[in-house]
Amino acid sequence: MSDELKTFLEGLDSLARECEACKGQAASLNELEEIRVEYLGRKGKLAKSMGALGKMPNEHKPEAGRKANEVKQFLTSLIDGWQAELVRAQDEARLSRFDPSMPGRKPWAGSLHPVTLVMDEISEILVGLGFEHATGPEVENDWHNFEALNIPPEHPARDMQDTLYVSENIVLRTHTSPVQVRSMLGKKPPLAVICPGKVYRRDSDLTHTPMFHQIEGLLVDHEVSMSDLRGTLTAFVRQLFGKKTEVRFRPSFFPFTEPSAEVDISCVMCGGKGHKDGSTCRVCKGTGWVEILGCGMVDPNVFKSVGYDPEVYTGFAFGLGVERVAMLKYGIGDLRMFFENDVRFLEQFA
Ligand code: PHE
Repeated sequence: MSDELKTFLEGLDSLARECEACKGQAASLNELEEIRVEYLGRKGKLAKSMGALGKMPNEHKPEAGRKANEVKQFLTSLIDGWQAELVRAQDEARLSRFDPSMPGRKPWAGSLHPVTLVMDEISEILVGLGFEHATGPEVENDWHNFEALNIPPEHPARDMQDTLYVSENIVLRTHTSPVQVRSMLGKKPPLAVICPGKVYRRDSDLTHTPMFHQIEGLLVDHEVSMSDLRGTLTAFVRQLFGKKTEVRFRPSFFPFTEPSAEVDISCVMCGGKGHKDGSTCRVCKGTGWVEILGCGMVDPNVFKSVGYDPEVYTGFAFGLGVERVAMLKYGIGDLRMFFENDVRFLEQFA
């Protein structure tokens, strides 16, 4: 064998050993790729050694070529093997960080707001008593919110309600009572409707928020009397707060009802005793009663505004504050909690 061929073959062998010695040097796939390029790349070490092949006498070429191919295959499978090992090691590291017994993240489950819960419950009771749902706009005109309800301009009740004006004639409704007017304009008696909804007043302190919820009720027919009002509201309140609840009607005033009354129920906290655990009850302040709604017999002037004949029809109406009922039902001490959207508060109603 010629010296030239011998040197060539030995050169390839030592290239193979040199590459073998790189075992374990690549810590990542990128580093391994650098080794691959260094040995097998187009300008790599193997390619350089092959340069000598061209100048070799023809008789040596077959053997030299066979050897070169052999080394090339050897290097390729060597580096492929290292690559497989690196990939396996990486997979194992990832799996060792993965705990298949760990519980998954629970999806957030929402719950209904306490105001919605109480509104739904009240609606259900009243629908059970035969009332139908009615709606009206929250942005209302002066006529529906005041005038048609027997509250003329300059009437002191307009101040009483701390109206939020959109323009001279347009207000944010201060109560749900304008829905009484809209319902009567839309339908002839007999009529029994309820309207749950938002109302707005320029008022904000411990016990008032600028927006709150009311439920309005209206019933009109022949010969409706105050005793129908009493019977209906007593049945309603006992379904809502329990059979033993006492009900008291106190004379009051609203421009759109005559006579008018406010309804008190025996205190849900102390059971009407006025004290609890040896101290004055904080909910009824010792009186044993809490106010929950305003009501009365529809004023003849309201019937006249909507074209009902007050000589033919009579009716009763009532309006109830939803937040107030929710506070009593759930024992919530601060009105503002309803509107802070604190999840810790809201979650308790899930
Ligand atoms: N609209 C009255 C208020 O907001 C409540 C009410 C409604 C009173 C219906 C009597 C009849 O205070």
